[in-house]
Amino acid sequence: METRQAAGVLSEARRVVVFTGAGMSAESGVPTFRDALTGLWARFDAERLATPEAFHADPDLVWGWYEWRRARVRRAEPNPGHLAVAAIEARVPAITVVTQNVDDLHERAGSQAPIHLHGSLFAPRCAGTGAHPATFPDVEAAMAAEGGRIPPPRCASCGALVRPGVVWFGETLPEAGLTAAVEAAASCDVLLTVGTSGVVHPAAEIPRIAAGAGATVIQINPEPTPLDRVATLNLRGPAAKVLPAVVAAAWPGVSA
Ligand code: OAD
Repeated sequence: METRQAAGVLSEARRVVVFTGAGMSAESGVPTFRDALTGLWARFDAERLATPEAFHADPDLVWGWYEWRRARVRRAEPNPGHLAVAAIEARVPAITVVTQNVDDLHERAGSQAPIHLHGSLFAPRCAGTGAHPATFPDVEAAMAAEGGRIPPPRCASCGALVRPGVVWFGETLPEAGLTAAVEAAASCDVLLTVGTSGVVHPAAEIPRIAAGAGATVIQINPEPTPLDRVATLNLRGPAAKVLPAVVAAAWPGVSA
C-alpha cells in the first residue's frame, strides 16, 4: 500500500531529493557505521577512529582503517537500490542526490553528481594545507585488504601527512555541498530518505528542512528512526528491495 502511495507521489514529482546513509550500501556488503566493527578492528570504536584527534594520535592506525574500508568498497558493487536511485534520476525533471556515504556506489550505479556531505574515501588530501594532493603512491591492495596499521603517504608538495578526504566528527561539512543540499531540500516536492539513522547533524537536518518546507518525505529503512515522525510515508524494508519496487510501481515497465 505504502509502496503504491510512494510511487504515485514520486511519479508526479518535479523536484526530488534523495538523501542516503550507510543502510543504502549495506546490501553491497559495506557495513553501516553503527554496526560493530569486526575482525581486526573489533576492539575499536568507529566513532573514535573517525576523529582528527585519533589521526593526530595514531596516523598509521587511522590511515590503515581507511585503506581497509577503501579496499572493501573497491570490491563492492552497487546494489539494486543504488540502481533504482539512478533510474529515478533518469525520469524526474530535477533531482539532487545527497549522500552521507563516503563510498562511490551511487556514481558507479549511474548517478551523475551526488553530493558527498561527509566527503569521500577516494579524495585523500594533504593534512597540512587541506589541498588535494596531486598524486601519492597507492598502497598495495592486498596490504589494505588485510587490515592493520599503514603509515599514511606524504604530500608530494609539502611533505605533510596525507589524510582521508572524509569529514570527521568535530569537523565542518564542505560548504558548497551543504549549501546545495539545503537549497535542494528547501525547494523540493518529494524527499526520499534512505538507510540513515538520522542522528548525525547537520546532515540529519536535510529531511527536516524538506518536511518544514512542505515536501512529502518518504523514508525507507527496515528499522524505526527519529525520522519516522518527520516522514509522511514510512516504508519498512531494505533499500535494495523497497526502492526497485517503488520505481517499478511509479513507472510500470521500467526495471531499475
Ligand atoms: P548509521 O550506521 O547511523 O545508520 C544506518 C541506518 O541504515 C540505520 O537506521 C539502519 O536501520 C539502516 N539500514 C540498515 N540496513 C539497511 C538496508 N538494507 N536498507 C536500508 N536501511 C538500512 O548510518 P548513517 O545514518 O549513514 O558520519 O550515519 C550518519 C553518519 O554518522 C555517517 O555518515 C558517519 C556516521 O557516524 C561521519 O563519519 C561524519
